[in-house]
Formats: sequence, C-alpha cells, structure tokens
Amino acid sequence: MSSTVSAILSATPTPERVINGLNWTFDDLYNILPQWVKDWILNKQLGVFNFATVSLIVGGIVVLKFLASVIALLYTMFLTSKTNYITKYKAGYGAWAVVTGASQGIGREFALQLAEKKFNIFLLARNKEKLDELARDIQQAYNVEVIVHPFDFAEADDEDWDKLEDTLLANDREITILVNNVGINQPYPNPFAEEDPDLLTSIVTVNCTAQVRITRIIFPEMVRRHKGLILNVGSVAGLFPNAFLAVYSGTKAFLRNWSRALALEGEAMGVEVQHVKTYYVSTAMSKMKPTSLAPTPEAYVRKVLATGGAFEDDAPYPQHMAFTWAIDNILPEGALMQKAYELNIGIRQRALARKKRLEEAEATAAKKE
Ligand SMILES: NC(=O)c1ccc[n+]([C@@H]2O[C@H](COP(=O)([O-])OP(=O)(O)OC[C@H]3O[C@@H](n4cnc5c(N)ncnc54)[C@H](OP(=O)(O)O)[C@@H]3O)[C@@H](O)[C@H]2O)c1
Repeated sequence: MSSTVSAILSATPTPERVINGLNWTFDDLYNILPQWVKDWILNKQLGVFNFATVSLIVGGIVVLKFLASVIALLYTMFLTSKTNYITKYKAGYGAWAVVTGASQGIGREFALQLAEKKFNIFLLARNKEKLDELARDIQQAYNVEVIVHPFDFAEADDEDWDKLEDTLLANDREITILVNNVGINQPYPNPFAEEDPDLLTSIVTVNCTAQVRITRIIFPEMVRRHKGLILNVGSVAGLFPNAFLAVYSGTKAFLRNWSRALALEGEAMGVEVQHVKTYYVSTAMSKMKPTSLAPTPEAYVRKVLATGGAFEDDAPYPQHMAFTWAIDNILPEGALMQKAYELNIGIRQRALARKKRLEEAEATAAKKE
C-alpha cells in the first residue's frame, strides 16, 4: 500500500467519509498532504509564492475563464446572429440538402427553409403522404427539385440501407448539407426498468446507429468535394444525465461527442460538422405550446440556419444559448440532475393521470354503445 493511500485511510476515521467523499473537510484534505506541501502552503520555504499569491493566481485564472465565456456568449448571441453562413454550401447551384425526420416538426422546417435558400431537397421519414404533401408545397413555393424517400430508421435492414445509398449518390448528386434531425424519445419519462425494451432499442437505433450510417454514406462524398455541412440536432438532455429519460439522454450525449470528434476530423477536409444544442421547441415531441423558451419550429430553424456551419457546438436560439451557457459555466451538474429527476417525475405523473382519464372516458363511451 502506498504511503498516500495509507495517509488517506488514516485520515478517514468514520465509514461515512469513505463512502461519501463530499463530507471531507478542508482540514481532512490538509492533513493528508505531504509535509513539504504543507510547508509550501504555510510559506516556510517558498518565499514570494505564499498561499495568498497562489490563491490569487488560481482565482484570477477562474475569473478570466468565466469572463471569456461571457464574452463568447455575447458574441455568439448578438454579433453572429445576422450572418448567413449557409449559402456558402452552393445554394442555388444545384446542390442538395438531405433532411432526416422531415415529415413534421423541426425537420419539416429545415426542409422548407433550405428550399427557400435554393437547395434541392432530399426528404426522409416514414409517412409518405406527409412527405409528398411537403414536396408539393416546396416545389410550388421555391421551384427546386425534391426527392421523397420513405424510410424507417428504426426498422431498416441492410438492403434498405443499400437502396438508400444508391438513391442518395445516384447521378453523382452533390450533397452539401446533411441535417441529422430524426430523433425519437419515450412518450413520457418512465423508469428504465419499466419501459418497453423494444422502444429503448429503437431509441438507440434511430438516435445513434442511423445517424452514423447515413453520415458514413454522405461524409466521404463531402470530403471528396472538400465541401459540406453536417448539422446534428442534439438536445439539452444530452448535456447532463436525465433520469427517467436515461436512454434518450445517453443517445444525445453520444451524438454530441461523436459530432464534436467528427468536426475535428472534418476541419482539415473542408467539411463542417455542427452539433446543435436544442432545448424545448413547440412540436409533437415536446407537446408544448409556443413560448419564449419553446419557440415554433419556424423561429427555431431560422436561428439554426443563420449560424449553420459557424460553430462546432452551438445553441443558436438565444434563450437556449443562455441556458446551455449556464449549464457549462455556473450550474452544478448534480443540481441539474436532481432538478431533471424531479421534473421528469412530475411530467410522468401528469402523463399517467391523463392516460387514465382517457382510458376511463373510452370505457364509458364503449359501455354507452
Ligand atoms: N421538440 C423539442 O423540444 C426538442 C428538444 C430537444 C431536441 N429535439 C430534437 O429535435 C429533433 C426533431 O424533433 P421534433 O420535435 O421535430 O420531433 P417530431 O415532431 O416528433 O418529429 C420527428 C420526425 O422524425 C420522423 N421519425 C420518427 N421516427 C422515425 C423513424 N423510425 N424513421 C424515420 N423517421 C422517423 C417523424 O416522421 P414519421 O413519423 O413520418 O416517420 C418526424 O418527421 C429530434 O432529434 C429531437 O430529439 C427536440
């Protein structure tokens, strides 16, 4: 046993301290330090570098880091919001944007607004009727080409993926934008142990595997042409662990890490990869009415596209940006996890009560018939 470990053990007389490191006091920490460090702290040997000076230097670094984050927040919020990076991906020159989960919500809006900017649009989702209707709307309003490709990201087999690859890359199609928007969640927060295992597997398949597979088809083509943008629609639920939405939260954390690593790889190859930190948006998934915190998909996507390609990890909507800044810089993760835990329990209780009321109403109606 090393002398440090024995020092730690000898300084932890109660079992509580061994189990919960948070109960350690400053004195406990001080007592396990080697004598030369104690001497250093007490300024017995190191002259000008006394404890106060060291504290000042460390404190100064912390304050500077904090100020830098505030300046970065204000810069992204106000200075970059009016730029239009997205047109550099050859808008109006026959380039294509591929949008997954395009039949409704945020994905539908990406398709509409990218068409408005004169990209041809490749639409993917399961509901063919909704996609056909959207394709008609886009063609009438913006006179660009549209391809509808009904696709189930949860159920697709290798043959479906091969067909998708062939269609995407047919005629040497130049795809300069891929919006990895498709994502699914539990209908309401539920304990992992009670949730349908097939649904949990589908969440991983759609939110992780599908994103990797479609990107692996398109990314090398973008590298070949030295031009492209991959927009990965993430979630605040991926920024810290969310109990009762544990798998969704885990998949969005995967999306963020994968996305940021790919951004670094893509940088030298002319491909921008951007992870978009999304908080609430008023859609079928959030079941929320529009508010200042939960914008409409239209307002949300406008902000995303204004800075599309400018940052590798972005929260383009101002209210979401402020919240994610607070998560990164001032809110302790433990407190966030606890708050999400309580919030999700509340949402679950209300959802179960609503479900019960609906079932009772249906039973009453059935009796009357
Ligand atoms: N809304 C929010 O508050 C919020 C917050 C944070 C992050 N996000 C993220 O934003 C993205 C879009 O969410 P949203 O709110 O717009 O969701 P939404 O309204 O539920 O739309 C989801 C889209 O994905 C498609 N889809 C679902 N399962 C699919 C599957 N197996 N195969 C192919 N397509 C499928 C749906 O179309 P079909 O049914 O036709 O297939 C639909 O077009 C997601 O990644 C979500 O995690 C949303």
